[in-house]
Amino acid sequence: MEKLNISITERTTPVVLPQNLGFGQFFTDHVFEMDYTPAKGWHNASIKPLRDLELHPATMFIHYGQAVFEGLKAFKTVSGEVVIFRPERHMQRMNNSSRRICIPEVDIPFVLNALNELVAIDKDWIPTNSGEALYIRPFIFGSDPFLGVKPSTNYKLIIICSPVGAYYPEGFKPVKILVQDEYVRAVRKGLGECKTPANYAASLLAAEEAKQKGYTQVLWLDGIEQKYIEEVGTMNIFIRFKNEVVTPMLTGSILPGVTRDSVIRILKDWGENITERLVSIDEVISEYKKGNLLEIFGTGTAAIISTVGKLGYKDTEIVLNPVEPGELALKLFEELTSTHYGIIEDRHKWLWHVEKKQVEVI
Ligand code: COI
Repeated sequence: MEKLNISITERTTPVVLPQNLGFGQFFTDHVFEMDYTPAKGWHNASIKPLRDLELHPATMFIHYGQAVFEGLKAFKTVSGEVVIFRPERHMQRMNNSSRRICIPEVDIPFVLNALNELVAIDKDWIPTNSGEALYIRPFIFGSDPFLGVKPSTNYKLIIICSPVGAYYPEGFKPVKILVQDEYVRAVRKGLGECKTPANYAASLLAAEEAKQKGYTQVLWLDGIEQKYIEEVGTMNIFIRFKNEVVTPMLTGSILPGVTRDSVIRILKDWGENITERLVSIDEVISEYKKGNLLEIFGTGTAAIISTVGKLGYKDTEIVLNPVEPGELALKLFEELTSTHYGIIEDRHKWLWHVEKKQVEVI
């Protein structure tokens, strides 16, 4: 197995975390890096002090977007253990994303061990207040300096970490969402199910226009008919009708969220009638008019659960839980965060325990 070289910055003063972490603005002092060449495969694995990257201006991913990324979280439990939520699942998804855009896959056990080491080294950066975590961002990019359009030959994998609080400035308070029918985020058989920068670039203009109209984010409809609900902002979406909880089925244009999967499992445990199926915006509006629509919420690693308080679509405004989160969203948020912080039993074995090393790093 590949050797992991570790060089660490000796801290002379303890880590002091800022009061208001927000999301993604502070970084720990170490990174994991690994290189890919066709001759050596993935090699040159190291953990080193955080530094700026030096890149040739022709580096391929800058021009043609051949890059994938992940987002996962580490927590400090109430008993002081360091845990990462479902890292294997995230690494599997990273390999699935990579396959779609011709990036070589990584050896999952090796990267998990590297992640284990990185988080152990930077564990003092894990915030402990409710709603806070260490957000881990692995990413891979095509690194050849070349301007022809083709897959890069060489790649770099980097993992950085950022202590974070709430993703949205509203925190866990309900957000106002505009249904987007002017632009689409992704199409089936395109890149929608792949965590790649293109999908996020495609979302920016719609989100900016929604903000100008007083909304926090947009709800995405399918790319072909603009009829079926797909995602909300950067999150998966759940709709609670009177007798059924629905989340859009994975058709290829929707990101298979790890929180989405966890929420489905929890709802099944609770005996809820949870279905993965196509759900149209017209169905949501007509059920709302009949008084059968109870809650809408988003799920994702960054915000965990985010309730939709109001939903604007053409000249209709759906008002759900404008001030406080809905009942089921709140219950799910508490279940997930209590699992993260080790307050309740980890029934599904979703937590990777960092200090108990899983496999030897050699
Ligand atoms: C998430 O919900 O975890 C996301 O994908 C947001 C992230 C891109 C900041």
